[in-house]
Amino acid sequence: MQVLVTGGAGFIGGHLAESFVHDGHDVTVVDNFDPYYEVAIKRTNVSEARETAAKTDGSYTLVEDDVRNESTVSRLVAEADVVYHQAAQAGVRASVEDPKKPNEVNVEGTLNVLEAARSSDVRRVVLASSSSVYGKNHYLPYDEAHPTTPVSPYGVSKLAAEQYARTYNDVYGLPTVALRYFTVYGPRMRPNMAITNFVTRCADGKPPVIYGDGQQTRDFTYIDDVVDANRTLMTSDAADGEILNIGSTDNISIERLARTICDAFDQPLNLEYDERYRGDAEHTHADIGKARALIGYEPSVTIDQGVRKFIDWYRSNRAWYRSLTKATA
Ligand SMILES: NC(=O)c1ccc[n+]([C@@H]2O[C@H](COP(=O)([O-])OP(=O)(O)OC[C@H]3O[C@@H](n4cnc5c(N)ncnc54)[C@H](O)[C@@H]3O)[C@@H](O)[C@H]2O)c1
Repeated sequence: MQVLVTGGAGFIGGHLAESFVHDGHDVTVVDNFDPYYEVAIKRTNVSEARETAAKTDGSYTLVEDDVRNESTVSRLVAEADVVYHQAAQAGVRASVEDPKKPNEVNVEGTLNVLEAARSSDVRRVVLASSSSVYGKNHYLPYDEAHPTTPVSPYGVSKLAAEQYARTYNDVYGLPTVALRYFTVYGPRMRPNMAITNFVTRCADGKPPVIYGDGQQTRDFTYIDDVVDANRTLMTSDAADGEILNIGSTDNISIERLARTICDAFDQPLNLEYDERYRGDAEHTHADIGKARALIGYEPSVTIDQGVRKFIDWYRSNRAWYRSLTKATA
């Protein structure tokens, strides 16, 4: 299968590309290596996928370009059987600093992908959406029918993008699936997220810093579960035209996450607290019943297992990762 992964040098896209070449597919990645976090992490994602491709029947091609470039996107989508659209200006906090960029990249970039797909023979476009589309909670866990009231410019941009995808299915019959990811973590993840900050601090013998009172709750979803959901959609048409929550096995508070990480490092629990960030949602928690029913999605990695896996990876890569990242010191 010829697979296009936009944003394929990023955290999730990098794992998808690596998994697809491992399965023997021909993968093209388009990514502009946006420097909003350390580009060396993205270069490593590329080399890992290339190394895997060298050992399998799969192939890996990198195109360094921008999803806002219509002609590149048209050419690449026309060559693809399946498109995984991951490219985005990710992150709630970045969007609070600069609200226009998520609109340009996440909304206009998505429209370029959908427009190109509409006039090609592509079998499916699978789009990365986000739990940030929910924003204010009316009830928990969120099912896909829960009202969408984003509380950040990022959430608005992801909502617009997924609704364009759904509409392209309705109006043009283009097979699209939008996956609302709930806080994804794992090796080579984006720095300056709660897990990376807590692990970095604990590894340095310092207490984790919690923004807010720590009672905010999250589904932390391990990257392998996210990859599995995407892999299923390579061949399954069961969710065409749908939007699915992709969450985890358990929902925990930020404070409990900090304690779990402290425990893993045998650190005494001296948590520190700082002011909460604007735009952060209070609670996110996924009802995954629809994904389970349509594509058999079953998250398998618990938070304790996932944190231990991440810490193992961090310990093996500490000098490299630490030198690149500006995690809260
Ligand atoms: N990581 C999470 O917890 C999470 C949660 C919900 C949704 N998502 C969504 O999943 C997708 C992947 O997220 P991630 O965590 O891997 O983020 P990431 O920043 O690591 O990956 C995004 C990639 O897109 C690339 N990119 C940015 N702008 C681009 C442009 N204009 N043209 C081409 N490439 C561009 C970046 O260079 C990066 O490599 C995003 O769409 C994000 O909104 C992520």
